[in-house]
Amino acid sequence: MPMPTNPAVTSGKPDRPGALDLPLHLDGMRGPQSARVHQGLRDAILAGRLAPGSRLPASRLLAVQLGIRRNTVVGAYEQLLSDGLVEARVGAGTFVASHVPSGPAPPERTPATDMTPSREVFSLGRTSVYALLLGRLRRAVGKRLRTLDPVHLGYGDPRGCRELRERLAEHLAVSRGVHCDPGRIVLVSGTQQGLQLCLGVVLRPGDAAWMEDPGYPAARRVLEAAGARLVPVPVDGHGLVVDEGRRRAPGARVAYVTPSHQFPTGVAMRMDRRIALLEWARDADAWVLEDDYDSEFRYGGPPLTALAGIDAAQRVIYFGTFSKVLFPGLRMGYVVLPPPLVEPVLAARAASDRFPPSLLEGVLADLIAAGDFSAHIRRMRGRYRAARDAVADTLAAHADGTLQVTVPDQGLHLVARLLPDSPPGAAARIKDAARVQAWLLSETRLEPGPPDGFVLGFSGHEIGALRDGAKRLAKAAAAFGTPA
Ligand SMILES: Cc1ncc(COP(=O)(O)O)c(C=O)c1O
Repeated sequence: MPMPTNPAVTSGKPDRPGALDLPLHLDGMRGPQSARVHQGLRDAILAGRLAPGSRLPASRLLAVQLGIRRNTVVGAYEQLLSDGLVEARVGAGTFVASHVPSGPAPPERTPATDMTPSREVFSLGRTSVYALLLGRLRRAVGKRLRTLDPVHLGYGDPRGCRELRERLAEHLAVSRGVHCDPGRIVLVSGTQQGLQLCLGVVLRPGDAAWMEDPGYPAARRVLEAAGARLVPVPVDGHGLVVDEGRRRAPGARVAYVTPSHQFPTGVAMRMDRRIALLEWARDADAWVLEDDYDSEFRYGGPPLTALAGIDAAQRVIYFGTFSKVLFPGLRMGYVVLPPPLVEPVLAARAASDRFPPSLLEGVLADLIAAGDFSAHIRRMRGRYRAARDAVADTLAAHADGTLQVTVPDQGLHLVARLLPDSPPGAAARIKDAARVQAWLLSETRLEPGPPDGFVLGFSGHEIGALRDGAKRLAKAAAAFGTPA
């Protein structure tokens, strides 16, 4: 079979007289010579420039042609043989295989959009970390790295490091009223992964799921991804309206709630609602997903007992996270499972990412044991309270009565509502005019309902920037419509 005629061998050296008509392009390739010759020939075969059945030049000739050692070419041919792209015929030479794949798909241009969330003022999901704590964290990481032992080198328990689970069990008992054996705690890469893991076990596609309305959009997305049929359940000044949930979907499989500090409204669920929710879960054989994301930062009085702490029927799956109390880049959270779910959830974990990475878990266990964690919480509480007050006071001072601000007792965000008669689209326009990064209240709703407003994160931003942002937002709101 005749060789294709073009283009000639290009090796980065000027063509010599008598160049082989082999379509081999080696210019610009990286790596050892043998790998480059192999790659050049492989590309020519896959692209069809070297036809199936055609004969490759003798290794000696090609070596002379390229000005390289013969062994280098032999190595490349052997690699092509292992790939199955060429066949060696005894006494006849090396031939392109008669059946070769049609070649790699042309490289696609991947969209270059950067998905890192905004850091503009009021963006949620940011925290402040004291330099002191960062120093301790660095030292603890260094110590753990120096004493790296076999525990970190092999496979581990799907629940994650026992030491951290023990520290967490102590912390939960003292500060959240949740008494659990560390064997029921699973370390995860944040609430998001915890929800996904548990929903994979307890929910079948099409099952109804109560979702707080307004509610946390990331939880809504994970419920949707699990195939849940979302049932919006309204939230009033006392938390989730359980009777409405019972009316809309009595047989729902799960209910997602943030009872200690409802996201985004900031309401704490009243005790009669909590009891009603737990009774419904027991009657319906349903699971309550308690997202307890920011209870460490309570500004007035002691922290409220978690729902999981009063759950005699053991229908609550409790989710905690280090994303607020420390910082989200840690990707560290934990789930407290009711006893019947321990085995199936651990089996699901083992079948997905097996177990969590162990190094940082040990570091956190050290920080908690040394008291650095609780010291950090105490310090940050004061700082976040000051940030909250700066935002609330500035909004009140400049909004001319056009914003109703709820000052929360807990957490790292607050809600500022427009007046009930503000026109549709007003919130988005005010936000644009003020050049701030707030979420709109309407973005957290499943069912539309006035008034719209802003969910403003005040952690992880400088007080000066918060004041400036609050002033711009308040003035934009005031310019849009002053109450009659
Ligand atoms: C309501 C709520 N739940 C949970 C989380 C934490 O999520 P993760 O642990 O996946 O970072 C956040 C963080 O912003 C939140 O606002």
